[in-house]
Amino acid sequence: MTTVNNDPYLRHLFDGETVFNVYDKEITNLSVGAPGPDLLKHCVEMLNQCTRHRLEEEAKEGKYYLFQYGATAGHWECRNELAKFLSTRYGNSVMRENLLLTCGASHGLQQLLNNILSPNGVIFVEEVTYMLALEVFKQFPLIRVVTVPMKDDVVDVDALEKIVAEEKTKGNYFLNDQKMFWAMYYTISIFHNPTGMTLPPDQCKRVVEIARNNSIVVVCDDVYSLLYYGDGYPPRRLFSYDNPEDKNYKGGNVVSNSSFSKVFAPAMRFGWIESSPRVINTIKTS
Ligand SMILES: Cc1ncc(COP(=O)(O)O)c(C=O)c1O
Repeated sequence: MTTVNNDPYLRHLFDGETVFNVYDKEITNLSVGAPGPDLLKHCVEMLNQCTRHRLEEEAKEGKYYLFQYGATAGHWECRNELAKFLSTRYGNSVMRENLLLTCGASHGLQQLLNNILSPNGVIFVEEVTYMLALEVFKQFPLIRVVTVPMKDDVVDVDALEKIVAEEKTKGNYFLNDQKMFWAMYYTISIFHNPTGMTLPPDQCKRVVEIARNNSIVVVCDDVYSLLYYGDGYPPRRLFSYDNPEDKNYKGGNVVSNSSFSKVFAPAMRFGWIESSPRVINTIKTS
């Protein structure tokens, strides 16, 4: 079996051989964040059951909404069920109104870049980060990508604060009602790719303060948040620290961008953006 791919145009790990070493029982491939066949096999019965159930409902109702153009933010019932599911799994309330369905976290990131960020803005990234996010950023040539150092394999929050303040004064950023942020900080605060680390709660609070004080948006890539094997609930997603009840709440400066790719089936391309009404409404009306 081939485990090395010599294709010079290989961009994504699954672009090459059809049999990649995700499927080799002898190899645990730590460079791939994808479920193996032992997990994917459960999709067969699950999808069979829910497809049968849903199609029977469609036939009973006789309106066939399933096959119709849908709501801009995604099917209402689907967002409702997703909100319930996430609230249970996170142990923290998720509201349907704060959700917008996407075709995966990669699509969610594109949507955010297209819609809420200044076209000549700045993206702050940690010195090591998810490689495909960097590829997506390259499609926005007027946007500058600025690296922030890390400490103990998480972002160095002091450095972030300093660099954000410096960059803020440098540009004449284009802003309007939609492109409301001059800068984005892209991070993976829970089970970071590639370091695997989680940002401690006190530092999460500081990141939210930095975002509010400097009018930037933190786009938190939460695709790994539900892959938690400990007791109780997974670490709190950064979005939950941006509490609307806070005295210095600024209308929402954090986005949780996530998907089922790591816990169900990446091929389903089922993801969501969870954010404040101002972000959700901007994308909805774009
Ligand atoms: C940090 C991170 N974000 C996003 C993705 C891709 O997510 P999706 O399949 O929902 O586009 C991956 C996949 O490896 C990832 O590691």
